[in-house]
Amino acid sequence: MMFRYMAILLLCALSLIVLGALVTREVQPLPGGFNAPLVSTVQPTLIWLEQAHVFMTWVVGGLTLGLIGWLQWRVRRPWPRSLGLAALLILGLEGWLGMQGVRSSLSPAIGFFHASLAPVLFSILVAIAAGVIAQKERIQPLKDPGRPSFRSLTVAVSVLTLLQVVLGAAYRHGLLGVLTHILNALVITLTVLVVSIPLIRAFPGHPSLRPAALGLAVVTAVQVSLGFGTFIVLLIGAGSSTTLSFLSVAHGATGAITLAASLLLTILVWQNLCSSNPKT
Ligand code: HEM
Repeated sequence: MMFRYMAILLLCALSLIVLGALVTREVQPLPGGFNAPLVSTVQPTLIWLEQAHVFMTWVVGGLTLGLIGWLQWRVRRPWPRSLGLAALLILGLEGWLGMQGVRSSLSPAIGFFHASLAPVLFSILVAIAAGVIAQKERIQPLKDPGRPSFRSLTVAVSVLTLLQVVLGAAYRHGLLGVLTHILNALVITLTVLVVSIPLIRAFPGHPSLRPAALGLAVVTAVQVSLGFGTFIVLLIGAGSSTTLSFLSVAHGATGAITLAASLLLTILVWQNLCSSNPKT
């Protein structure tokens, strides 16, 4: 029952992010001075998208409130409960930031914070889902065989991915160039390979570590391809406005999934592996 509830909440949160990216595409020029035509310049489309975005905010807000009630009532571990409250706080902040653009488009700084916090909210909801599901299992931790440890490597991947989301939002809202975003993407790709391939080889039959490591590798590959696709279309000014919108909206949404996948792998590694150094 709770599994289905979380799946619906995550689906609604992802739709909220996609709708937000579509609204941004309609009201804000593309980064780097590229003035490719947007999805549609027809006003009713923008009004419809904005209304759908606001409606989905209320749906996600209501579902998050329900989740918090359930977490306080049924979950004994403190961290999923604290994450539930953090999710509600971020949702409130996101609502307030979004309201600043009701009569005009968001300022670059507000748009940047609004775009950066959305993937964080989605990742927190995924982390709560992991906590809720793991509650039913009794996990006997295995020794972390990584050198450096998988525990520290997965934390590095999550921090780098969070930085990447922030750099992407800063570029999208005209606060920064694209170079740091591209360079960090190369670092992330390497780090993800350095973590996921040895992790899959060390635990080939593990029920959660193997799929989580494989999932992160696949979603990172998709995300980097979408990023290069968006960048090339922007750079050469080719492709229809629909192609560009599809690529950039998909890149924004998959950015949130990539951050969530890295956080999920970090949580699973910390739950399933213990330090091989007895002092730590
Ligand atoms: C793991 C890798 C990556 C992540 C997590 C990521 C994440 C993001 C995020 C969250 C945004 C902001 C989207 C928005 O606010 O609507 C963004 C924008 C952007 N990223 Fe990436 N990115 C990655 C890799 C790349 C790569 C390799 C490129 C290639 C050049 C790239 C090019 C772009 C471009 C051109 C934009 C702005 C275009 C737009 O969405 O309108 N990204 N990225």
